[in-house]
Amino acid sequence: MNIHDFSAMKRNNNPIAMVTSYDSWSASLAAQSSIDCLLVGDSAAMVMHGLRDTTQADAEMIALHTRAVRRGAPDAFIISDMPFLSCRKGLHHAMDTVEVLMKAGCDAVKIEGLAGQEEIIAHIIQSGVPVMGHLGLMPQSVHLLGGYKVQGKTDDAGETIRADAQTLQEIGCFALVVECVPAQLAKQIADKLTIPVIGIGAGADVDGQVLVLQDLLGMSTGHIPKFVRTYIAGAELIIEALNTYAEGTKTRAFPSAKESYS
Ligand code: KIV
Repeated sequence: MNIHDFSAMKRNNNPIAMVTSYDSWSASLAAQSSIDCLLVGDSAAMVMHGLRDTTQADAEMIALHTRAVRRGAPDAFIISDMPFLSCRKGLHHAMDTVEVLMKAGCDAVKIEGLAGQEEIIAHIIQSGVPVMGHLGLMPQSVHLLGGYKVQGKTDDAGETIRADAQTLQEIGCFALVVECVPAQLAKQIADKLTIPVIGIGAGADVDGQVLVLQDLLGMSTGHIPKFVRTYIAGAELIIEALNTYAEGTKTRAFPSAKESYS
């Protein structure tokens, strides 16, 4: 997949399947599947580091995960998240972060929001770096939003998201993630834009979906959002395997003679 395939897939009505990846082994597995592209999301702060929200991620963390994902999936199209406040400390700071992430191995960056960072986003794109927008629920603003809530429910809020989506396309974003908005609103945006709209908690009438890998594998603990579909009971399977290994160790059933050197 390369940057041109995103718009081609939308034109051909071919939905884009994106998943998060933070490490080399999952990137390698995803690369052997029909997943189209990988997101090194700042959700790594929560999923991999046990931190309370994505405001805890920084460029060093995202770069570390990006390097691992690139090693696991040398040919994949990788998008890395610009971390909390990285576009809010001025152009130089934003460009330094873009440089760190691109040199870590991603092909594009994702940026939450629009207001106040239009010029920075345009500058990043003019510098030759593809930008994926992210509207609707923006987890980096969770403290201002007062929680992880559906966005764009009122006419005014919906209109702001529609207008921001249009502006991001005009600035030159190659794709847009829309998170936790009413399905009707997501459809209107996807119908209007020529760039693909990739939904998470945004219904089926968009140009692709993204999920956190651990959520879809059933490996996440705690609250699972309504929009997540769990495809395997990962946590159960893993705990069962660990229990079997532990029991085998304690009863000396493992290792067998075949698993030992004579
Ligand atoms: O960080 C992340 O995982 C994301 C996706 C959920 C869209 O931004």
